[in-house]
Amino acid sequence: MDKQNLLEKLVALCKRRGIIFPGSEIYGGLGGTWDFGPVGAEIKKNLKDLWWKEMVQLRDDVVGIDSAIILNPRVWEASGHVEAFTDPLVECKVCHARFRADHPEEIAEHEKTHDKKPQWTDPQKFNLLVRSYLGVLEGKETEVFLRGEITQGVHVDFKNVVNSTRVRIPFGIAQIGKAFRNEITPGNFIFRSREFEQMEVQFFIKPDEQEGMKWFEYWKKNRLDWYISLGISPDHLRFHDHEEGERAHYAKAATDIEYDAPWGWAEFMGIHHRGDWDLSRHQKFSGQDLTYKDPETGGSFLPWDIETSAGVDRSILFLLLEAYQEDGKRVYLKLDPRLAAYKAAVFPLLANKPELVEKANIIYQKLKQDLMVAWDSRGNIGGRYAAQDEIGTPFCITVDFQTLEDNTITIRDRDTAQQERVKIEDLARMLSSKINEPKN
Ligand code: GAP
Repeated sequence: MDKQNLLEKLVALCKRRGIIFPGSEIYGGLGGTWDFGPVGAEIKKNLKDLWWKEMVQLRDDVVGIDSAIILNPRVWEASGHVEAFTDPLVECKVCHARFRADHPEEIAEHEKTHDKKPQWTDPQKFNLLVRSYLGVLEGKETEVFLRGEITQGVHVDFKNVVNSTRVRIPFGIAQIGKAFRNEITPGNFIFRSREFEQMEVQFFIKPDEQEGMKWFEYWKKNRLDWYISLGISPDHLRFHDHEEGERAHYAKAATDIEYDAPWGWAEFMGIHHRGDWDLSRHQKFSGQDLTYKDPETGGSFLPWDIETSAGVDRSILFLLLEAYQEDGKRVYLKLDPRLAAYKAAVFPLLANKPELVEKANIIYQKLKQDLMVAWDSRGNIGGRYAAQDEIGTPFCITVDFQTLEDNTITIRDRDTAQQERVKIEDLARMLSSKINEPKN
């Protein structure tokens, strides 16, 4: 399949089937913002739930928090974002379009749109923090920032978490939530947006070089394996280690996991060795003691932080690109059933036969107590299968005339399009094991 074409097809499918819509579309849109539709919102929730289960529920050494989006503005001075969270910006002197100086491919693309070679301004630092105002007195509002990364809420709460739980180093604090960046050039669908979600673990360890590299390597492998377990081919993933000049202002070492996207290898998520950058800066700026008291030695120290940081939206984009399949005229999303919006769809073979509709409805009502299940009684069965294939529903259950005789239904597999006959009494158990056993 032509790769650029693939992105276009996915964008169209997402709009048509309620996965992702352009933000504020009836007003002409708002650059770099997107809405998740009825199907997309389910997929996104499933991804976040799976992440939380893996990172918090199943681990004894990670706890989760949900911090405020708007933090005291001093936080962003301490974290270095006010000073250093910048991208190099150049402006086309002909049409005033702005681009990132470190994205030569976008500049080259723009140059093609002018007859004469455009003149560019010198690169200047452009801060990505999104500003807002808080307070009720006009002219006296406080200028605040919408968080540029969800990380700082964790560092600000470090002491509260240590004091209120039984965590002992090494331990992590997990968080999922919205982040905002005034990206110069949002683009590639939801890949680079101005409002997006992140899922992160800040993993606090002893300040020791060997420990640092041990956990850094551990989290690299842990995250790569997780994306593979969700159905991304290992051939489409690779590590990209950052050289010194490439690293964010806080990082002692950094690696991206990259995905083989239609426009080339692209950053999927990051693993960053932040050392004690954040805690030491917050200690200094807040004047509070943020050291960790080691119960074993009685000593105290500022822990180091190994961070794993992934975009929720970006993960969804790459999971959808990976899942998009064409088989002749048939289009289907080969999503891991755990991610799929609906785990099954229930159909009466014919909508005008009340006995079939009634029987199908009983099955539908029962299954939906435990699973997200879709109902469809429109048109013909082929059209219903096609509609469910396009949104990645792994199983379609049809109640037909034989059901009325022997209490069996047909269950059709999305990927093979094969059907098998199953007793209604076995259906819930069978679905549950099929959904939870990895498909890939
Ligand atoms: N706390 C560290 C941090 O925020 P980052 O590399 O700037 O590091 C981490 O961002 C991840 O967040 C990225 O790998 C990507 O998945 C996601 N991300 C960053 N900027 C994004 C944007 N503008 N749109 C969508 N996702 C973004």
